[in-house]
Amino acid sequence: MARLILALDTSCDDTCAAVVAGPRILSNAISSQVDAHARFGGVVPEVASRHHLELTVPVVETALKEAGIGLEEIDAIAVTVGPGLIGALLVGVSTAKAIAAPRRLPLVPVDHLQGHVAANFLEPEPLEPPFLCLIASGGHTLLAAVREHGGYETLGQTLDDAAGEAFDKVARLLGLGYPGGPALQRLAADGDPGAFELPVAMSRDPGLDFSFSGLKTALVYLCRDLGPDRVEERRADLAASFQAAAVGQLVAKLKRALKGREWKAVALGGGVAANDPLREAVAALCEEAGLRLKLVPIELCTDNAAMIGSAARFAKPLPYPEYLSYDAFPRFKAAGSAERASVEI
Ligand code: KG4
Ligand code: ZN
Repeated sequence: MARLILALDTSCDDTCAAVVAGPRILSNAISSQVDAHARFGGVVPEVASRHHLELTVPVVETALKEAGIGLEEIDAIAVTVGPGLIGALLVGVSTAKAIAAPRRLPLVPVDHLQGHVAANFLEPEPLEPPFLCLIASGGHTLLAAVREHGGYETLGQTLDDAAGEAFDKVARLLGLGYPGGPALQRLAADGDPGAFELPVAMSRDPGLDFSFSGLKTALVYLCRDLGPDRVEERRADLAASFQAAAVGQLVAKLKRALKGREWKAVALGGGVAANDPLREAVAALCEEAGLRLKLVPIELCTDNAAMIGSAARFAKPLPYPEYLSYDAFPRFKAAGSAERASVEI
């Protein structure tokens, strides 16, 4: 029987707990705080920490109950230690210590981004390295070369806003609620992606980094020039044109990363991986290049704790009492993850 891991993630605005046994997910409980943040139009860190405090224990109880597992059967506790909102992370780390220490269980510190990569190692149809993974979420946008289970190499990352952050900001500009990505996608479905010419940023840049703040600013100026009445009339066209430019950049960089390399498989992760036009464009790219495309279910794309349990299988556990002084890190970088590679394209 594979080790039973109870995993927690409180890095942003979702309180998540899960039980995994090897690649099998026994439960994956999430309590979303969307309603608490919606009225502010984005995540308020202090509000997130306070909600995590209230929600972590009930969510852990739900995860155990849904898995049909008692705490006494758990072999290790895994927890996201960064990157993320420091107050939010601390709630998860303290809870994990409080569960692990009295039982003398090992604690496995996990990098949140390694978690997004490790979502691909879960059932159904676990993907084995090597593969190229595009992670696009509200906080991060990066291309990861995954050659082993326990780490990845960052080939490129955003220089400013994350892709999901740009979706959220533009959605707000167009009067859509938070989180904006799914609402913007729905609105864009009725619009013409070619209606407005928006810059596909970094397209002439030879590297693999991303940039989304220029696109967001271009949209701000466009809306200002159009004026409120025409913006109202053309909301769907504006959403569709923005989405085409944002997805265009993600796909262009992925294509560039694949060029001349021996990759056989591609995976997507992070909340933006739920975007249908992105999924379709990457599927077309992979089909054309004869590559396997792994698309995890939407609930494993967005933040969840099953992916943290999955990463923990390949990370170094800390024995009791070593972890008692272990901290949370807003800019955590896992030991197994190499810094940016010098890619020659
Ligand atoms: O991975 P995630 O759940 O949390 C972070 O780690 O940030 O990603 C949330 C982000 C939000 O910015 C949200 O707007 C975006 O993912 N998102 C989408 C879609 N669904 C979620 N963006 C574009 N299209 C979608 N369908
Ligand atoms: Zn995330």
